[in-house]
Amino acid sequence: MNRFDRRKFLQGIAAGGALLASGDYAFAGAMTHALPPVATPGFNPDIELELNAVADSIAVLPGNATRVWRYNGRVLRGNPQTLGMLDGSGHIPIIRARRGQKIRIHFSNQLPEDSIVHWHGLHIVQRMDGHPMYAIGPGKKFVYEFVIDNRAGTYWFHPHPHGRTGAQVYYGLTGLLLIGDDEEDAAKLPRNELDLPLVIQDRTFGARNELIYVGQSMHDRMMGRMMGFSGQQVLVNGNPGYSRTVPRAAHRLRLFNGSNSTLYRLQWSNGKPFTVLGTDGGLLERPMVREHITLAAAERIDVWVDFSTHQPDDELALIAESWSPALDNITRMQSGAPMTERGRPVARFRIGSGDAKKSVLPERLSTFPALKLADAVNRDKPRSFQLSMMHGQGMLNGRSFGRMDEVVDHEKVKLGTTEVWEFSNDTNFGMRMAHPMHVHNLQFRVIGRSRTGRSNPLLQDLGAGLTDEGLKDVVLVMPGERVRVLMKFENHTGLYLYHCHILEHEDIGMMRNYLAQG
Ligand code: C2O
Ligand code: CU
Ligand code: CU
Repeated sequence: MNRFDRRKFLQGIAAGGALLASGDYAFAGAMTHALPPVATPGFNPDIELELNAVADSIAVLPGNATRVWRYNGRVLRGNPQTLGMLDGSGHIPIIRARRGQKIRIHFSNQLPEDSIVHWHGLHIVQRMDGHPMYAIGPGKKFVYEFVIDNRAGTYWFHPHPHGRTGAQVYYGLTGLLLIGDDEEDAAKLPRNELDLPLVIQDRTFGARNELIYVGQSMHDRMMGRMMGFSGQQVLVNGNPGYSRTVPRAAHRLRLFNGSNSTLYRLQWSNGKPFTVLGTDGGLLERPMVREHITLAAAERIDVWVDFSTHQPDDELALIAESWSPALDNITRMQSGAPMTERGRPVARFRIGSGDAKKSVLPERLSTFPALKLADAVNRDKPRSFQLSMMHGQGMLNGRSFGRMDEVVDHEKVKLGTTEVWEFSNDTNFGMRMAHPMHVHNLQFRVIGRSRTGRSNPLLQDLGAGLTDEGLKDVVLVMPGERVRVLMKFENHTGLYLYHCHILEHEDIGMMRNYLAQG
């Protein structure tokens, strides 16, 4: 459905639901519930927020301000700390909530085009998920009401209108959603100012500091979007040169790749390995060590870094090497800080002068909800999805995102079942690209990677930096690879998306619905 058809469709429902009788919309009940998008009297939220998508100007580089789109808002009910701003950023908000809390968000679209907010990583009822079918026009409002039903972890939110997600995120619409719970508290990890989210994004600026994104010409639509967009500068928390003076104490850094398509290979400037605490869906069972980290678009990883072992005035930098989805090294083309052997420093930590504060890395961090391969209804016969690109469109099993509610039999799952899905990135035609695959409404386990295509040192090196452990909602599928994930469909019925999280790929249709049926 295009925007006009969808409007007519929605009007059809409002006018008495004649369309519902057509039998074409098995899920239409969910849509009617979303209308009108107003607060439910009996809901009683713990947290109530106003969240606006607005056009604004902010200072990013010296000189001219940069016009951006961004989220702002305010707390209407609950702890005033619920809504904050990322360290060093003038425009990326953080919402802090706890598992079990009820939240109501009054979203207002003040952009000149359709938008809707998706809560990435959340287990959430269908009509609150920000599916593009719910996109609202300029000046319109959508009221979200849901229960926070995820483990503690680093989640995020972003626009999800079909065909415009890439542009809207690129122009600045990104926010973090940090969820806490009792289990996380019990792990006694660094908190407050020792718990530091770092959002890594790349952008290209024009001569007047304006943001430059893929063009709108036919050629750019095809090529620019197929290649994925990578920017010339890497920003951390919106800064081209993020730096912070840190106390001599252990920190929890929440690294989040908020870029449209770029893949980062991260390492510490002193060559020390990373201590990984958590991934997309929260804490691991125990900390793990990685020599370097490979972080694909939309992935999050929590690391522990102990600055108490450093001397006052020392500096430790996070070095990022950027790779395009086609696995071209783009660090060389990027401007900014001088290159080191493997990338450029994107965040610098200067060690403060106070006394060192000893802290101990917990041995045990959490216990996962059980998700057993033995429970899968198709353990030896995964539901398979072939990733490909053809004629300027992204495809899953040869199909692009079509009608808002389009779903084929292969995409229908049964509530309460556990399944194995396999993403295959080994077609013999088209471009060889890495695709980070994402599934809405759940967290999965990565249970296997196999290779049908030839490997090479680069694939091995990047592969060694991936953290497949823990609960995940995005998994990177390298060219020539098949990746199996295990997941359970629980509680919510209706249409949810699965897609490549390279936003340009998503926008050219590398996205489909799956239908969870009761
Ligand atoms: Cu961040 Cu549809 O996803
Ligand atoms: Cu999502
Ligand atoms: Cu892709």
